[in-house]
Amino acid sequence: MSRLVVISNRVAVPKARGAAGAQGGLAGALLAALKPQEGLWVGWSGNENDNPPSAPHIQTNDGVTTATIDLHPQDVEEYYNGYANSTLWPLFHYRIDLTEYSRETGKGYERVNDLFANAAAPLIEPDDLVWVHDYHFIPLGERLRNQGLKNKLGFFLHIPWPPTRLLVSLPYHERLVRALLKYDLIGFQCTEWLESFLHYCVKELGAQVDERTGEITIEGRTTTARSYPIGIDYEHFMEEGRSREAGQAEQRIIASTRDRTAMIGVDRLDYSKGLPERLEGLARLFERYPERVRDLVFIQIAPPSREDIGSYQRIRETLEQKTGEINGAYSQIDLVPIRYVNRGHSTAELFGIYRASKVGFVTPLRDGMNLVAKEYIAAQDPDDPGVLILSRFAGAAQQLTEALLVNPHSPDELESAIRTALEMPLAERKTRWNKLSECVRNENISSWTASFLGDLRDANL
Ligand code: G6P
Repeated sequence: MSRLVVISNRVAVPKARGAAGAQGGLAGALLAALKPQEGLWVGWSGNENDNPPSAPHIQTNDGVTTATIDLHPQDVEEYYNGYANSTLWPLFHYRIDLTEYSRETGKGYERVNDLFANAAAPLIEPDDLVWVHDYHFIPLGERLRNQGLKNKLGFFLHIPWPPTRLLVSLPYHERLVRALLKYDLIGFQCTEWLESFLHYCVKELGAQVDERTGEITIEGRTTTARSYPIGIDYEHFMEEGRSREAGQAEQRIIASTRDRTAMIGVDRLDYSKGLPERLEGLARLFERYPERVRDLVFIQIAPPSREDIGSYQRIRETLEQKTGEINGAYSQIDLVPIRYVNRGHSTAELFGIYRASKVGFVTPLRDGMNLVAKEYIAAQDPDDPGVLILSRFAGAAQQLTEALLVNPHSPDELESAIRTALEMPLAERKTRWNKLSECVRNENISSWTASFLGDLRDANL
């Protein structure tokens, strides 16, 4: 069997797994995908270095071999903080108002993609399957081809693909997409993002698209694009759930909320997650039904993310202010309605926290998939499951149709969904949860990996 080489910006060493899971699904998911295979994982070490060595640092931990490189501070600024997270991330999350366009960061992005291609190419053997991940590395496949690599090259985008009307505001958008088309297989989280991508290929590039097979033909070359919804590492998550740590976290929530229902949100502190809008919904509830303050406690876990970027600093300020305002207005001498926690938590702790929370509040404004929604479902007690409130704008909403689907921009809808969740009879909670949990259990990380890699193996070169 051919070896798997994964390339992604973030690399999680196995022992850091809990942290990765809590702060963004990608690194934890890839670790799960790589573990059963003998593979290699190439990415950024997360370190800045004024004189970065050109050869990667190779180590094997718990059966997973990683090859990581340090980046020069200017590279981190232009590639990671700049083009990846101040241009592509906001634009791909439909936030054209936050998108910055600069030539310097665009060049930095290309330079770092070259750097990774130079570092990875010598490590790749002729039979290896190469699987590149996320918006940091859209042109990497093209760069690897330029180095003479003949391997099958797959790419998976973990975030949304924006509508054509937004994407065309990006200078050199054509160059970016043409580079993406150099991969043999391109995967998206759901059909909505895939459809936007195919639309772009037809409208802007004049490509021939077969919507049934996902084949895109341009200038005599064909590549395939399909949707592969990512899942959680179900077995591992359930195993963590049986740990003492999980039980303790569950008890801490139960003991500290007593006769109030805990409603939980867990998100990286990112403007795409709709955190201020979520608070608006909660404030609307307390405004209309002040007595609900005694029924409900909202726990928002939000580990800070990408802290060097202005838009992230601003969202943090907004959130602190709103939390303060609502707690100030609705706290009573013996209770506070919102617990706002910036610390990250391990996978086991999160399992316990989800299980003790009878409402899951997952309302991003736009999200590629959202694995918190799936973890929340997996962690529920089958005899007394909680209710998931889920944004219709998360990729997960296409699969988790038995959740209470909401428009996160509408405080009224959020407010009414919270009341519906609090009042839902046990029989309905069970019926909904049974369907949701079947999906989360079956469409898991192993089936995701198997279906993407199966298609990549079959891709025609
Ligand atoms: C999202 C992205 C990932 C990223 C993660 C954490 O899930 O799709 O590529 O790794 O956020 O963000 P960070 O910038 O800390 O890697």
